[in-house]
Formats: sequence, structure tokens, C-alpha cells
Amino acid sequence: MTFFFHLHSGLRYLVLLAGVLAVAYFAFGLATQRPFDKVGRILGASYAGLLHTQVLVGICVLITRVYYPALIGHIVMMVLAAVVAQVCMSMNRRRTPPGYALPMAGVIVSLLFIVGGIMAIGRGVFMSTAF
Ligand code: HEM
Repeated sequence: MTFFFHLHSGLRYLVLLAGVLAVAYFAFGLATQRPFDKVGRILGASYAGLLHTQVLVGICVLITRVYYPALIGHIVMMVLAAVVAQVCMSMNRRRTPPGYALPMAGVIVSLLFIVGGIMAIGRGVFMSTAF
């Protein structure tokens, strides 16, 4: 079924956009030494939520498309990306006071895993493959 593939392919842009916006806001908060606020919480949660949605859609793609060994690298990197983002966001929420450095590091590391995961299957980070 190509529906999940196209959804998965397109959703990457939203995930990447949410990640870049979150990193920019966290960097701004860190530079201006403002207390961690609601906008930071929403941006972090949006990134982690979109990433989890992408993982779920990815599992649907896995079930509905042909499997090949290079997908292992893609899947491992993407699961690590989701875990790193979620753990950093959750740890930050429990901190008193929460800050910007931990969620920023979490999103940057997570984005690096995503780039690696997309490259693992020979696809472009900013380009779609028409199938
Ligand atoms: C455990 C989670 C994931 C699984 C099981 C999964 C699975 C897959 C599968 C089976 C394909 C199709 C490969 C092909 O047919 O050649 C694919 C492609 C792709 N995945 Fe994932 N994926 C996951 C997470 C992610 C995440 C988090 C992202 C990005 C944020 C992502 C981005 C992509 C991209 C960009 C492609 C290529 C789409 C294209 O060529 O247009 N995946 N994934």
C-alpha cells in the first residue's frame, strides 16, 4: 500500500521543521537565560509527538512494503532518535527548575540520528522519492 509510504515520506518534513523550530527556540532561551516556559514545553512535546507518529507510520510502511536488510539501520537509528528525544524531554520536566540545555541537546542528537537513519536507506533528507 503506497498510502503509508507517501504519508511516511511527507511527514519527515513536519518532523524536521518541528525539530529545527524547537532547537532555535531552546537556543534563544539558553542565550537570553530565560526560565523554561510553556512555549518551550509545547515545541518539545510537538517534536517528540510527531516523531512518535512517524515511528508508528513507519511500522505500517514496514508491514506493507518489501523488506530489505538496509532497513535495519534505518529502524535502529529512528528508534534511538525517538528514545533520546523523549528521555531528554521527560528528564527536563522532572528537573527543578527545568532548563533549555537538556532538551536542546536531546533534539540535536535526535535530529542527527534521523539524518543518519534516512541516509542508511540511501534517501535524501530534503527530497522525496516518487514510488
Ligand atoms: C521505527 C520507525 C520507522 C520504521 C519502521 C520505518 C520504516 C520505513 C520503511 C519500511 C521505509 C520504506 C523504505 C523503502 O521502501 O525503500 C521507510 C522510508 C523512509 N523513512 Fe522510515 N521508518 C521509521 C522511522 C522514520 C522516521 C522517524 C523518519 C524521519 C523523521 C523516517 C523517514 C523516512 C524517509 C525519509 C523514508 C524514505 C521516503 C522516500 O523515499 O520518499 N522514518 N521507513
